Amino acid sequence: MKKIMILSGAGLSAESGISTFRDHDGLWEKYDVMKVCSTEGWIEDRKLVTKFYDARRADLEFKEPNHAHTILVQLEKDYRGRVIHLTQNVDNLMERAGSKDIVHLHGTLTDLRCEACTEIFDVGYIAQNDAISCPHCGNRRVRHNVVMFGESAPEYSQLHQAMRECTLFIAIGTSGTVIDITRIAKEFKDSLLIDPKRQKISSVFNPDSYIDESFTHFIQKRASEAMDEMMKIIKAHMDGRF
Ligand code: APR
Repeated sequence: MKKIMILSGAGLSAESGISTFRDHDGLWEKYDVMKVCSTEGWIEDRKLVTKFYDARRADLEFKEPNHAHTILVQLEKDYRGRVIHLTQNVDNLMERAGSKDIVHLHGTLTDLRCEACTEIFDVGYIAQNDAISCPHCGNRRVRHNVVMFGESAPEYSQLHQAMRECTLFIAIGTSGTVIDITRIAKEFKDSLLIDPKRQKISSVFNPDSYIDESFTHFIQKRASEAMDEMMKIIKAHMDGRF
């Protein structure tokens, strides 16, 4: 059965006004990633890390899903059960666009997690405060529900599952720095990359090659502008025309 695996990244939400990480105006240009998004940084200064995620959570309240989110939700409905969309994004814009099946590989910004019983619970857009305790075990040691560098990401098992089940791989708005999309693309006969920028592969072995060279299709446009062309490629694939 033809099935679609989608892996999205920060570029999907860029047109909603949410910074990406590694673009010139990206988050990791403004913050020291190892201070605010790593196990070392968390041990060193919980308050600094908590403040970083509080600010991103508060900012999210005023962001809206963009055209790409809307089209991807429609795709989920049109091909119910044949689309596996895994996102590296921790924002809730796919859910706010109506998604029921989106899988968050790196956690969710609007939830907190209990450090005692691992319960995950929704806190909306508020800043973490000492009054908050785990609704399941009452413990006060709760933290942001975002996977930091140095931590395991349990949902990655779904990546491998999707690679086994799906016939078309689509990467949208990810630099492939954390999840190597070229390696995934090489596992597929049909693959599509959507990114307004051509990214060089950061490897010593083939320094002059580009990420898009590992894909059978490349749409060098912003996500919202690429949706019509993407839908044509998907339809051709699902109709078995390639
Ligand atoms: N539409 C599509 N792609 C875009 C757009 C857009 N409007 N704007 C930027 N992009 C592309 C950039 O060219 C870049 O290739 O999105 C990509 C964003 O890359 P990163 O900033 O590296 O984000 P991402 O790949 O999602 O990061 C992966 O790294 O820091 C960690 O946990 C964090 O989930 C994140 C992971």
